[in-house]
Amino acid sequence: MGEQTGTWHYGLIARWWAEVNKPEAVELAYLRAAIGRFGEPALDLGCGTGRLLVPLLAEGFDVDGTDISPDMVQYARDAAALAGVHIEGRLAVQTFDGLDRPRRYATIFSIGSFAIGGSPERDAAALRRIHDHLIPGGAVLLSYEPPTEADHARMSDPARIYPSPWPKTGPRATLSDGDELELLSRAAGYDANLRCQGLEIRARLWRDGRLVREESGSLLNTYYLPEQLTAMLEGAGFGSVAVEGPYTGRAPEPADDTVVVTARRVS
Ligand SMILES: C[S@@+](CC[C@H](N)C(=O)[O-])C[C@H]1O[C@@H](n2cnc3c(N)ncnc32)[C@H](O)[C@@H]1O
Repeated sequence: MGEQTGTWHYGLIARWWAEVNKPEAVELAYLRAAIGRFGEPALDLGCGTGRLLVPLLAEGFDVDGTDISPDMVQYARDAAALAGVHIEGRLAVQTFDGLDRPRRYATIFSIGSFAIGGSPERDAAALRRIHDHLIPGGAVLLSYEPPTEADHARMSDPARIYPSPWPKTGPRATLSDGDELELLSRAAGYDANLRCQGLEIRARLWRDGRLVREESGSLLNTYYLPEQLTAMLEGAGFGSVAVEGPYTGRAPEPADDTVVVTARRVS
């Protein structure tokens, strides 16, 4: 799955996100502060399973969510129901470049989601849709995990053979019903000019030591250099573009594994 959409967040992989990936305190603190600074309502773009959206709603923030994957969005609904949070009318299954919501937002944030799919044209279109969904003065915050320059050099080495071999084992987690879910991933390719990485994944469901299901998926991830993303944001009409380190608002450092790019709608 994912060949058409450029993402793999369906089926067993959506379940992994729902059951294994928990919100981190630093992410929630950053988002609380950002929404406090830029205002409500807010939109979680690529909200996935509601990992961040549902806790923010539970705290009383006015936040909506969109995501390309109906499976991820269904998990967000389930998480909201479990938390006793009213989410009806707040969620939509939409692509970034097809963003079309009835409200306008003071804050739009995308945590680890923007630039999945592997199309600079669609990413530029998505930035225009985001711009149109902000009120004047509103802010967008895009976080991603860029490879280091050493990773980039390794991935673009012409001697490197793609796809990489599959690992024999991968990370495993025990699910709520006692089944185990294992993820194996490998690099499928790398476009050094676009800085776009292709990845493949196999999700294996184990029950009592037996493999009972296997699903596969693929994902394309473009790692824009901050200056490229800055130019794209300015091209979409944004101003006051700023590049930050991971979830604190401080200046970025070369060793950072996460970059957050923020920008304001000027008028
Ligand atoms: C890495 S997950 C992050 C989810 C969530 N932001 C979080 O932090 O838990 C990326 C999410 O982006 C969504 N996504 C990927 N490509 C998308 C696109 N083109 N339009 C909308 N959502 C997309 C996936 O379905 C997935 O839920």
